Amino acid sequence: MSTDKKIYQPNPTFAKDAVIPSMDDYWKLQNRAIEDYEGFWQAFADEKIDWLSAYNKVLDESEAPFYKWFTEGRLNVSNQCIDRHLADKAHKTAILFEGDRGEVEYISYAQLSLHVNKMANLLRHEFNVTKGDRVVLYMPMIPEAAYAMLACARIGAIHSIVFGGFSAEALKDRIEDAEAKIVITADGAYRKGKPYMLKQVVDDALDQGGDSIEAVLVVKRNNEPTKWVEGRDHNYNELIVSQHAECPFEAMESEDPLFLLYTSGSTGKPKGVQHSTAGYILWAQMTMEWVFDVRDDDIFWCTADIGWITGHTYIIYGPLAAGTTTVMFEGVPTYPDAGRAWKMVQDHKITQFYTAPTAIRVLHKMGEHEPKKYDLSSLKVLGTVGEPIDPPAWEWYYETVGNSHCAIVDTWWQTETGGHMISPLPGATPIKPACATFALPGIIAEIIDPDGTPKEVGETGLLCITKPWPAMIRNIWGDPERYVKAYFGDAVKDGKPVYFSGDGAVLDEDGYITITGRVDDVINVSGHRMGTAEIEAAVKRDDTVAEVAVVGRPHDIKGESIFIYIVLKEGHINLDIKNHINELLATEIGNIAKADHIIEVPGLPKTRSGKIMRRILRSVAKHEEITQDISTLEDPSIVEQIITKAREA
Ligand code: PRX
Repeated sequence: MSTDKKIYQPNPTFAKDAVIPSMDDYWKLQNRAIEDYEGFWQAFADEKIDWLSAYNKVLDESEAPFYKWFTEGRLNVSNQCIDRHLADKAHKTAILFEGDRGEVEYISYAQLSLHVNKMANLLRHEFNVTKGDRVVLYMPMIPEAAYAMLACARIGAIHSIVFGGFSAEALKDRIEDAEAKIVITADGAYRKGKPYMLKQVVDDALDQGGDSIEAVLVVKRNNEPTKWVEGRDHNYNELIVSQHAECPFEAMESEDPLFLLYTSGSTGKPKGVQHSTAGYILWAQMTMEWVFDVRDDDIFWCTADIGWITGHTYIIYGPLAAGTTTVMFEGVPTYPDAGRAWKMVQDHKITQFYTAPTAIRVLHKMGEHEPKKYDLSSLKVLGTVGEPIDPPAWEWYYETVGNSHCAIVDTWWQTETGGHMISPLPGATPIKPACATFALPGIIAEIIDPDGTPKEVGETGLLCITKPWPAMIRNIWGDPERYVKAYFGDAVKDGKPVYFSGDGAVLDEDGYITITGRVDDVINVSGHRMGTAEIEAAVKRDDTVAEVAVVGRPHDIKGESIFIYIVLKEGHINLDIKNHINELLATEIGNIAKADHIIEVPGLPKTRSGKIMRRILRSVAKHEEITQDISTLEDPSIVEQIITKAREA
């Protein structure tokens, strides 16, 4: 395993001043965690968090796997991200916003404080939003999205951000599951030089349901005309003006939920991943400092959308808790041309750049030599997240973007983990390309069999986190049984259920961890996580569909693409099945769920007991030779027919 990979040593000039400057220092920290787990976390919690009142226990395992951290401590995340910085960073830029059309806004910590206080007052006094209420955000990438998140944190409301690419139906489902009180949205925003609309998706969602919603707060961004429901819809820009500039923050308990974020699993509908207050913000800040090694005058840019966990932790909470300048970008990195991202790095002297492998592959393909046209010498650390990165993309990123002197941190983590889990440290870890390397200090990651037996070097096993950690998921909103089953139902260690990530991984002889990808029925399209069961359920809503099976197929740019097999009910023909089903998917889930391949087949390969043989379907989609034994299938001849259909697709 990966022994033939070239090793890239940390840049010595950078390492000299790094927070964790060597592998010795890494091991010192990790061994401290192994020897005294609670003591390790206690020390960081005391150092990093501005406690309003002290906690009484570091880790409470009495109701495992419902772990509790820093019990009965009190804090407030908007204090942690804003107020406590005002003494020495009031005039430092907190958010550097660049609009799609190129306009730049510098929002200092003092200004951020004002906006957040006002918005918190607006929510509290005009809409009676109180501690524990759920607030759905359906927002573009504009500063008001950050104000809304932090305003919720300030008054103790639980935000649930729904990515702007999700459909009205998907938005309605998430509103209903969380029984949200209010939706904050914008009329729309700008993308690729043109206005696009969001508010009308909210209108459609609320036409279909979402009865718990009492008000819709609309930020005017592009001023395009929108429908206006009197009594329900409210204009943020008008209402905010008269709000009081100070809003005292709630003293939240460590375990109070900070936010929900819906994500896909291998079964059923999306799960509302529930995160905590203290554990989450502690780890967001610590990983910012360790993995990105942010210094006082750094300018940090994470290109994610706030609708995903990466946007939560590394555009908003991590950077602001660490007192960093975080870049928020409304547009896309390839507009007006493939040099946009690099021009932004040059213009703003960005020091850390964090993006997804899909974006790296697109930027590489569209403008291989483009980075050379710009001065990228400010860059120190480059990051990737969300999906496995392939070595050619890694090398281009390292050599052409990083000019062979920046560390690449290939960060493995998940919506459920809250922050980075396995990643190189830029000043310490000798890096092997496309390898997540080592678990961060405090994180105990093991590659095991379901019974807890460790895998040998070179053998793929289940990637499990065998000790609870502060930023971990606390629950699935409203469904504790599913939480236990989904995360603690697949592997045990020393007789105790442990957190299974859904990913496979493998160790090499140097102890490096390489992620091999999902081992469950979850596919990863352009870093967007989707459950095949969720896509199948959407397709089945079509009356003519008898059976459906969804698999992932490797894709050069997107990592994976969606491949759908459909069996129509008898007597039905559909000459335009691809467009028809893709329209349905766009309506039910959103454009991100559209499939590259949809083929109609006479039947699905099934065992005699009726189980669909997905492995065969995956092999057929990849045009791989079928090596599985098909003689035990109910109808072996079906495989040949499917192969012929797939070749034509
Ligand atoms: O399969 C892993 C993949 O993304 C999944 C988590 O998706 P999500 O919850 O949407 O969060 C994405 C951003 C944190 C994981 O189960 N994944 C994430 N990072 C990596 C990765 N796969 C390989 N390498 C990574 N660095």
